[in-house]
Amino acid sequence: MIRVLFVCLGNICRSPMAEAIFRELVKKENLSDRIEVDSGGTGNWHVGKPPHEGTMSLLERERISSEGLLARQVKENDWDDFDYIIAMDEQNIEDLGNIRKGDDSIVIAKLMDFVENPQETNIPDPYFTGDFDYTYQLVSAGCRNLLNHLKVKHDFN
Ligand code: 4NP
Repeated sequence: MIRVLFVCLGNICRSPMAEAIFRELVKKENLSDRIEVDSGGTGNWHVGKPPHEGTMSLLERERISSEGLLARQVKENDWDDFDYIIAMDEQNIEDLGNIRKGDDSIVIAKLMDFVENPQETNIPDPYFTGDFDYTYQLVSAGCRNLLNHLKVKHDFN
């Protein structure tokens, strides 16, 4: 089983969006028994809350399930429980380094690292920009490319 944890700051806008989109792609490709998906935030302000209404309405529009999405904070143990921690921006990467220091036993990368010539290297935070649609486009492209990467890397066919 390959375990993927998406991370952003609040775990109510970008990373739950990525979790839901990625889970849907994994399901469509019949890989649900090979790839497990979760998300978390580096901050703790929204722990226990469902995603932001902007993320919820986007997922609804795209007919992607938001079942089980409740915010939680990233914890030190996540390095033991996941194979990939996929962050939305450079600040997340820096914050992750403060949660568990000097551990490179798993892959920690930004979602846009998996996109060739990306429009953005950091996924803009719609909590501040208000533009959930643009974030959705970037997250979708990133998730599609991440899944292709995992399929090749781990021989899923
Ligand atoms: P997210 O957006 O990291 O994409 O979930 C944010 C949500 C809430 C806050 C910051 C970012 N906040 O400061 O409460």
